[in-house]
Amino acid sequence: MGLKQELTEKLERHGQGHLLQFWDDLDDERRKFLATEIASIDFGQLDRLIVEHVRGDDAAAAGEIQPVQVDPIEVVRMPQTDAERAARRRATEAGEEALSAGEVGIVIVAGGSGTRLGYNGPKGTFPIGPVSSASLFQIHAEKVVALGRRHGKQPPLYVMTSPENHATTVKFFEDHDRFGLDHVRFFLQGQMPAVDRETGKILLAAPDRLAMSPDGHGGTLKALAAPGEEGCLPSCLDEMGGRGVRTLFYFQVDNPMVEIADPTFIGLHRQADAEMSFKVIEKLTPEEKVGVVVTVDGKPQVIEYSDLPKALAEKRSEEGQLAYWAGSIAIHVLECSFIERLIGVHRLPYHRAIKKVSYLDPAGQVVKPAEPNAVKFEQFIFDALPESSRYVIVETDRAVEFEPLKNAVGPDSPATVHQRMSDLFGGWLEQAGAVVPRRPDGTVPFAIEISPLFALDAHELKSKIDPGLVVERPIYLR
Ligand code: UD1
Repeated sequence: MGLKQELTEKLERHGQGHLLQFWDDLDDERRKFLATEIASIDFGQLDRLIVEHVRGDDAAAAGEIQPVQVDPIEVVRMPQTDAERAARRRATEAGEEALSAGEVGIVIVAGGSGTRLGYNGPKGTFPIGPVSSASLFQIHAEKVVALGRRHGKQPPLYVMTSPENHATTVKFFEDHDRFGLDHVRFFLQGQMPAVDRETGKILLAAPDRLAMSPDGHGGTLKALAAPGEEGCLPSCLDEMGGRGVRTLFYFQVDNPMVEIADPTFIGLHRQADAEMSFKVIEKLTPEEKVGVVVTVDGKPQVIEYSDLPKALAEKRSEEGQLAYWAGSIAIHVLECSFIERLIGVHRLPYHRAIKKVSYLDPAGQVVKPAEPNAVKFEQFIFDALPESSRYVIVETDRAVEFEPLKNAVGPDSPATVHQRMSDLFGGWLEQAGAVVPRRPDGTVPFAIEISPLFALDAHELKSKIDPGLVVERPIYLR
């Protein structure tokens, strides 16, 4: 049977025969490319997703949770008493031991397309340092290098990219001599086809190309377990095993304030013998765009902000606090053994996102839709939580650890990130005895930045500056 006939039969069985409509116009190489893309798709799974998310009834398809018992989850809150502070110190020591033993690896997820930021490049390359304009990647990498100096072993860094930004990301690190990292490895996440939201038909991006998009950061788990480039490298997980790494610290590229491999968090996770742990902050308003960690029918789960019914988002306790307040900031610790177990037996669910996706019409013309026309399918890493046998949810202070870069202007934009970083570093300087001016609302009036290579925290800064320092203008300590 010829290749075209073979493909036609397969595609017709799944109602996707239109993917070959330009086949006769393609040369051999482009036919091969198209055939390879088609071969990468699990059509049985796609059929099920289309039934559930494109043709299913609207509420279920939108992912909105059905009436069930939703309760607040137990959280290790910020320490208030001496006993709690002492317990935290013991956790910190346990985490430091894991770091010194080289048992911790670091994963950054940087495969997203950053459409909301409107930046033409991988988000990690965005210049965000308030004074230095250091990129997100530089800031993260310098923290890893500084951790290595502090604990005697530099944790290996794993950066997840997507086909769209892989080459540019790798080149960016190479152009900067890998920021002094001992070991950084880039691994590709998977892709899923985008389908027409009315018909469920896969969209064509070009005569020889399907409209594919990253499969969500839930794809991290299978990407970590997949063989390396062209099958000749071990998987990241196998490589980690060989290096003695047991525990992974995971975060999103967009948050420059993340306390990478925070030993207290790692220690709390380890002391509880947990498989997956979460950092949370207190949500400020019902509308804030963070997923909430709750229990659903007694099982731990994250409900994404877009899926949280308004009534639940607005529900308050008698004291006036949001009932479901534990906002996930997408910082996790995961055991490698947990990922291996999950990969073998469990598939994370897919969520749907309705987006504008350009496509070829039957006449071969590119259509740029004015309205969202397509369904994309994504897995979310936090859906692994209900599968973990033990977990710890730890509260952190948003002023210290969370200001993600999501938008070009308004909340979570370069302006808010600069301000929050400057406020944090201003506070570190004050703790070290310096004088820093403040506006009446407590914010600092100009940009302040401290490279992780100069000081990784307020404590370290103390030994490095003159306590009489008066800060009068923008300053970058490096
Ligand atoms: C995300 C979380 C939300 C959390 C918030 C905190 C999801 C679905 N929601 O929201 O619960 O409270 O962050 O900031 O994640 N990425 C990939 N590959 C992909 C998709 C995304 O690597 O296929 C990476 C992006 O590069 C980015 C991160 O995941 O670093 C977050 O993705 P984004 O779509 O921006 O999530 P949010 O809606 O901001």
